Amino acid sequence: MAKFGVVILLLIVTLEMAAVPGMAQTWAQKLVTEKETVTNLQFYFHDTLSGKNPTAVRVAQATGTDKSPTLFGVVMMVDDPLTETPDPKSKLLGRAQGLYGSACQDELGLVMSMSFVFTDDIYNGSSISLLGNNRAMNPVREMPIVGGTGIFRLARGYAIAKTHWLDLTTGDAIVGYNVTVVH
Ligand SMILES: *[C@@H]1O[C@H](CO)[C@@H](O)[C@H](O)[C@H]1NC(C)=O
Ligand SMILES: *[C@@H]1O[C@H](CO)[C@@H](O)[C@H](O)[C@H]1NC(C)=O
Repeated sequence: MAKFGVVILLLIVTLEMAAVPGMAQTWAQKLVTEKETVTNLQFYFHDTLSGKNPTAVRVAQATGTDKSPTLFGVVMMVDDPLTETPDPKSKLLGRAQGLYGSACQDELGLVMSMSFVFTDDIYNGSSISLLGNNRAMNPVREMPIVGGTGIFRLARGYAIAKTHWLDLTTGDAIVGYNVTVVH
């Protein structure tokens, strides 16, 4: 009985709130927008397919993938370290975790869908999300940053990627990333 009474009371309160003209709805409230920050991040991405401890592994392919010059249809899962300099032993800043796959039949065009999850300094725990096409054989390419978490909440921006080193037989690569985000 007491429980019933509480429900009725809540209903009345809710109805009254809804009935007051000009009163803000409870489910959608306009918040004050804060100032935006622009951050530039520069780091090196180490994509290792070879050896005993690869950081990029093939998780799926199509029937014709291995016959395709661009490995069309292959999907790779990655957990690649991001470091301060091209030296793999330099300071670890975070990891690139996600997927890339071959989405182009006449040149190496990758669809990239990954988070750059940072672990260094104030950025520890914050991430940015990259989603876009990567014409991997071009010396310079641009990809969109479509979101972020933590410090990078609401991030949008772009990443400029430049291949620093590539082993054509194994596919191992070190790529320099220069990312600019507004958040
Ligand atoms: C990042 O944060 C995690 C969890 O809060 C902590 O365990 C870790 O030591 C931190 N890493 C660095 C490099 O500060
Ligand atoms: C990185 O990008 C920023 C912003 O576009 C630019 O000012 C800077 O020169 C770039 N750095 C390198 C090393 O390309």
